Amino acid sequence: MTTLERFSISLDRRLLRQFDARNRVRGYSNRSEAIRDLIRRCLVEEQWQADESGKMAATVTLVYDHHRGDLMHALTHLQHEYGKIVVASTHVHLDNDNCLEVIILRGPGGAIRRLADGLIAMKGVKHGKAVFTTEGKDLW
Ligand code: NI
Repeated sequence: MTTLERFSISLDRRLLRQFDARNRVRGYSNRSEAIRDLIRRCLVEEQWQADESGKMAATVTLVYDHHRGDLMHALTHLQHEYGKIVVASTHVHLDNDNCLEVIILRGPGGAIRRLADGLIAMKGVKHGKAVFTTEGKDLW
């Protein structure tokens, strides 16, 4: 059980209105939860910048044309090179041409970032995005 602490923040009214509007769109029921999420996101990003401990995780989402056999081969080859940090991957055939692949990674931040960047930058990947997170141990 964690102990809650309250604190107040002074903000420009316009900034607060924008923040409230953003929170409504995103479905937050109150400011506290929205601020907690922003703080967690900030802490995760800073952990990411510092980490080489092997306690990081990420998902990489890729959309690509499956007619490009060379690309599929290259994507698989790169994942084999980083086999120790690839936990799982899922492949969905979106339509006659396009495939969606989600790859789950876990390990040192630097290696995860290199693999994620390499996959996303590969020629023929139409859309790629990585979400970097942590094992969550030190987040509340
Ligand atoms: Ni496919």
